[in-house]
Amino acid sequence: MQKDSIGVFDSGVGGLTVLKSLIELLPDENFIYFGDIARLPYGTKSDQTIKRYGFQDASFLIEKGVKLIVVACNTVSSVALESLQENFDIPIIGVIEPAAKVAVSIADKSLGIIGTAATIKSEKYIMLCQKFAQNEGKSLSILQKPTSLLVPFIEDGWKDSNILELVIKEYFKDFIEKVDTLVLGCTHYPIIQDKIQSICGKNIKIINSANAVAYEVKRTLEKNKIENIVKNKKNRDVRLYVSDFNDTVFYLTELILGNKYPLKKIELVDIFGSSSK
Ligand code: DGL
Repeated sequence: MQKDSIGVFDSGVGGLTVLKSLIELLPDENFIYFGDIARLPYGTKSDQTIKRYGFQDASFLIEKGVKLIVVACNTVSSVALESLQENFDIPIIGVIEPAAKVAVSIADKSLGIIGTAATIKSEKYIMLCQKFAQNEGKSLSILQKPTSLLVPFIEDGWKDSNILELVIKEYFKDFIEKVDTLVLGCTHYPIIQDKIQSICGKNIKIINSANAVAYEVKRTLEKNKIENIVKNKKNRDVRLYVSDFNDTVFYLTELILGNKYPLKKIELVDIFGSSSK
């Protein structure tokens, strides 16, 4: 058991976009990532189910002895972050607040948020953006839109297809011209950020939460004095666990992380049965 790792979980491997930023910003830290491929997508499930899944995912990482958990999944961060923070006594960081802070500071007059159905229904982004805008004395119009079809397109390897382009254009009709800044409120969307940018045009500023979250994790490690102070870059450990394998796991892992990082072989775990070690 590794006691000094940072745990990261997501409903699938899309959260590797967050892991990548963490690996780059925190070169001396070890990481354990869990992707719940077997139960993906979370974004179309009820709040009750998302809370239950989030609790099980966090419990798996706690059993592994992690010192801090990053909830890379926007859906779990929107619906279940507070209940996770109440249930576990290590720092638990979601992706919504760091992204909302950056978005509000960057937006001029109008902010748009896209995410899964559950993320948008929770209105978590809207509430936090309004709070931060008020703190900054900034007047912003804030709009949001569920864009549920984007995840399955990316999962199925259709990220470069014309059909995906049409779907994005349809979602953005009567929406994108009303915003100057767009928050990618889902783990998968950074994978198609270039496509989204080319459809929106270069005048729209796009916020991808991964870097903002990594800085928040760095601050939290320092504040709690739990950062790894031993220079560890060469020997560090990055472990990936999934609850199921399919071709997407390998395709997206390679697409997001490439071959640059010291990854161990992806391991299959059963977090639902007795073999959840
Ligand atoms: N990880 C989810 C999110 O960031 C997207 C995929 C899903 O619906 O589970 O909201």
